[in-house]
Amino acid sequence: MMRGQLKRIACILMIALLTVGCSSRQEPQSEPKLLLGFSQLGSESAWRIGNTRDIEDQASKFGIGLMLENANQKQENQIAAIRRFIAYNVDVIAFSPIVEEGWDYVLSEAESAGIPVVLVDRDVSGSARKYIKCLIGADFYKEGVLAAEYLIRKADSMGLSHVNIVEITGTENSTPMRQRQAGFMDTIASDKRMTVTESVNGDFLKSRGAECMRYLLDTYGRDIDVVFSHNDEMTLGALPEIENAGFVPGKDMIIISIDGGQEAIDVLKEGKINCVVECTPKLGTELMETAIKLKNGETVDTEIHPVEEVFSDEIDVSQIKERGY
Ligand code: AHR
Repeated sequence: MMRGQLKRIACILMIALLTVGCSSRQEPQSEPKLLLGFSQLGSESAWRIGNTRDIEDQASKFGIGLMLENANQKQENQIAAIRRFIAYNVDVIAFSPIVEEGWDYVLSEAESAGIPVVLVDRDVSGSARKYIKCLIGADFYKEGVLAAEYLIRKADSMGLSHVNIVEITGTENSTPMRQRQAGFMDTIASDKRMTVTESVNGDFLKSRGAECMRYLLDTYGRDIDVVFSHNDEMTLGALPEIENAGFVPGKDMIIISIDGGQEAIDVLKEGKINCVVECTPKLGTELMETAIKLKNGETVDTEIHPVEEVFSDEIDVSQIKERGY
């Protein structure tokens, strides 16, 4: 049997399997335009779940066959998924790398198989970058800058002369963790009022956000002026701990978060979060458009960054629209 026929059969089988697994969403009307293998890193946050849903929805809208695998927060699962995509001879591989390092080998295998690779959301570092056709994701450095710029304006408006900041960071060695931290630190560096008392790792998880906050409150108590948290999930875990310790979040402590999911925006409206920098999970349309171009042998942009906003107590928060994640 020819390679093309094998691929078509694998594709139809895959779509049939997906249709059984997600009956309401995946209902391909005809043979898909192309087969896209996508390795999602996990389901650690509302952001991630929204991102997966958007990619499923857009694949269905574009008539693209989607082979979706969830790696449950394990890099080895992502590497195994990419190898399965290569074995199926999908047309395009996409993945959201949980961490930046450790991809060279598997990506060189994709290149040898002639399958183009697209990054969604997060980046890879070093020599693995040469195997990537396009990165579709937020400018995380800018998100850190926007968070810090908000803090500087807030400190000005409150007339603060000294600001003690605790930082709850995302997954170690991941792009959003590295770049959000770098953007934030670079921006506050020249402001003598700002001191980062401690940075602790919360792995983008609500439970870890709570744990980190308990530790920070036990250690620094009322000396904490600002909590800068790298995502909404960890912020939502930290807030009850702050209240249990007798502080009023948003008043006794300035709370800054990143993502802009509905739950965090609702809490921003209650005044318990002061600022949320948007990071949109809606990357599916750009992914499908890029996959089609790659399949057709067209050139693609090497980086695509969505435009993002800042939601804070500086604006009329009642005007913020439903977030959809
Ligand atoms: O990579 C994007 C980050 O990962 C989001 O900020 C976070 O919520 C997610 O888990």
